[in-house]
Amino acid sequence: MRTQVGIVGAGPAGLMLGHLLHLEGIDSIIIEDRSREYVIDRVRAGVLEQSTVDLMVESGVGERLRREGMRHRGIYLCFQGRRHRIDFEELTGGRTITVYGQNEVVKDLIAARCATGSPLYFGVNNVRLQGFEDHKSHKTIVYATGGEECEITCDFIAGCDGSRGVCRPSIPADQIQVYEREYPFGWLGILANAAPSSEELVYALHERGFALFSMRSPLVTRLYLQCAPDEDLELWRDDRIWEELIERLGTAEGWHPNRGDIFQKGVTGMRSMVTEPMRCGAMFLAGDAAHIVPPTGAKGLNLAMADVCILSRALSAWYRSGRRDLLDGYSDQCLRRVWRAQRFSWWMTSMLHRSPDGNAFDFRRQLAELEYVISSRPAMTSLAENYTGLPI
Ligand code: FAD
Ligand code: DHB
Repeated sequence: MRTQVGIVGAGPAGLMLGHLLHLEGIDSIIIEDRSREYVIDRVRAGVLEQSTVDLMVESGVGERLRREGMRHRGIYLCFQGRRHRIDFEELTGGRTITVYGQNEVVKDLIAARCATGSPLYFGVNNVRLQGFEDHKSHKTIVYATGGEECEITCDFIAGCDGSRGVCRPSIPADQIQVYEREYPFGWLGILANAAPSSEELVYALHERGFALFSMRSPLVTRLYLQCAPDEDLELWRDDRIWEELIERLGTAEGWHPNRGDIFQKGVTGMRSMVTEPMRCGAMFLAGDAAHIVPPTGAKGLNLAMADVCILSRALSAWYRSGRRDLLDGYSDQCLRRVWRAQRFSWWMTSMLHRSPDGNAFDFRRQLAELEYVISSRPAMTSLAENYTGLPI
């Protein structure tokens, strides 16, 4: 098989890149090692920045998002039993966020891809990359499917295969630098059949640790609890989860999340990682393949979308007029945004999570920081600007 851009990974980054390239008249083949059902059902992020919403709407895949997405004009910070609202719309001159599950984004992008008839192969195995390091060799993606070996020859490879993919590890170690940080906690996340009891998200710091109230629809609540990175889910019966959530999120005025049947549970560890540069020869990394953020700033999905928007413009300039400068500037342009999101996600994480040693000094300092954020307009504006995101 021959194509212009071979895309590894059908997460939000790979699917959106394929979609944007199609709009520019550029061919691509997307390969994915999981099944279509697995990719669609995987429960992950839920907060879209304004620029991600704009990208989806302007590129023609935002119809259901516009109908079903829940536009939020602010969030609450909750500590010492009180909720304090941060009004994004007012502080940023009109910027807001939209709550719409990542699996809905993926569903919409798969539908758009299928409607064009462009190749999208699920369930492939043993993906390997060849010849991308220099400009002379043929660039090929080799993979197995149904017991047969297949080969895609392409001009460029887009490594959109997430944090456990093959693209980044294929780059020779002396050609990239990886910056990393682990956090000593994770999130236990649940989905419950319960009507959201707040119209906006609630981020809480409690003596017992962080908790987050979010939602997926008018009937489904999404909730998270700070836990150990390797927390044993067997120890968390539904009653214990609800007691802990209500303890950490409940306010003196009597607000708390509504209880309901829990139909999904999972534990995610947290880390930060940045790969520099986000390119090796004819291979461009995008999304989680290039960088990971802790989830507290809700940036992972949004960074992935920004990367592929920039990459599609650069590839389009190359195919239309032979311009190399945008391809050459891709990594630097993305990394400026990535580091800014890393800083914000790290800051939100460290302000809102209790260290496992339960250091009382740190807790007092965190409360002072939260007091400052809710009482200083510049501090609140800084949070609002970073949370709603930079324009792409
Ligand atoms: P991915 O979504 O990881 O997509 C990569 C795709 O490549 C996957 O479909 C994978 O199966 C495929 N792939 C991997 N290896 C290969 C291979 N060898 N060959 C072919 N295909 C391959 N962000 C938030 O903002 N809030 C959250 O609450 C949140 N929760 C998360 C929970 C989990 C468990 C994880 C892992 C991430 C979470 N994130 C969250 C981050 C967010 O989901 C990611 O930033 C986002 O998915 C990035 O999109 P992507 O397309 O770059 O990567
Ligand atoms: C959700 C996830 C996040 O990481 C976050 O910061 C806010 C909301 C969510 O899944 O709804």
